[in-house]
Amino acid sequence: MKLNIAVLPGDGIGPEIIGQALRVTEAICEKFGHELSYEYGVVGATAIDQVGNPYPDGTHELCMSSDAVLFGAIGDPKYDNNPSAKVRPEQGLLAMRKKLGLYANIRPVSTFPSLIHKSPLRADLVDGADFMCIRELTGGLYFGRPQGRSEDGDTAYDTCVYTREEVERILHLSYKYARMRRKKVTVVDKANVLCTSRLWRQVAQEIEKQYPDVETEYMFVDNAAMQIIQWPKRFDVLVTENLFGDILTDEASVITGSLGMLPSASIGIHTSVFEPIHGSYPQAAGKNIANPLATILSAALMFEYAFDLHEEGALIRQAVAASMDAGVVTEDIASKDGVKHSTSEVVGDWIVDYVKK
Ligand code: IPM
Ligand code: MN
Repeated sequence: MKLNIAVLPGDGIGPEIIGQALRVTEAICEKFGHELSYEYGVVGATAIDQVGNPYPDGTHELCMSSDAVLFGAIGDPKYDNNPSAKVRPEQGLLAMRKKLGLYANIRPVSTFPSLIHKSPLRADLVDGADFMCIRELTGGLYFGRPQGRSEDGDTAYDTCVYTREEVERILHLSYKYARMRRKKVTVVDKANVLCTSRLWRQVAQEIEKQYPDVETEYMFVDNAAMQIIQWPKRFDVLVTENLFGDILTDEASVITGSLGMLPSASIGIHTSVFEPIHGSYPQAAGKNIANPLATILSAALMFEYAFDLHEEGALIRQAVAASMDAGVVTEDIASKDGVKHSTSEVVGDWIVDYVKK
């Protein structure tokens, strides 16, 4: 098969982790006889520095003409600490999501036997947890207008907007995935307070009738935040709006043991994007210490979701699990007396070799 991908390393640790995911992707293509071609695009603070736009047209065209996008991370402290900056790296990520129509962000949460000890949660609670968060990605507070400041600067506002159509399409997608899994959908909202959440719940109550073979439950987001930690094994597919999904999935990474382990797939109308859920981790940039596994696992999702190549994805996952079993991991998930390996060692010398075997 011919795989034509766009590679957007972005900011901070982005280039390092993407470099490793790309090596693994190349090794997999070689092994399975696929023809890989890729092209780099700029995005985020890096793109602001180069061309003054965090998602330049050239990068968008590249994404549109590719079969999949492998994405690193976005964000730079020089903007985080400057709330009055006019152009921000995150705008590039949001523009990409909107322009590519990436309305669903799929974030699988599971455990790895060798990582159970890293979770601050009790092993018997997390061992075997396996669920999928489906986060709506192009609506809600992230995109609703108006958004801004009063003239005197002392009042600020964001607007949460959802349309029926936006809610319907993400729910249908959630049921589709639930049917491939354990057939349970948890709709997370704040319908006791928010009008948009009441629309979600009303639409969900209509749509659930079309999927009588799937169990549907409704949960308020504050309660969901508690239950994810208390009983992670009760969830199968959890679907929620943009900001709730952002928050709940960082929380859920605690179950896996590290934010550095969670991959994601953003799918929608045009080309799909595969990216780790952690950010640009600027403190670690350039030090060769960042955990590349979330990005490598995102490459596994790319094989599966964008190309329907399941054996390839499974081999990557197997290699990642094996590297952890062998203790070849970066400092964030190394055991107390274990060796802390570098970003490139973890993959370069281990995962790539494993894949080639
Ligand atoms: C994520 C990130 C982004 C988001 C930031 C970098 C804008 O936290 O992908 O979860 O909030 O969506
Ligand atoms: Mn986030």
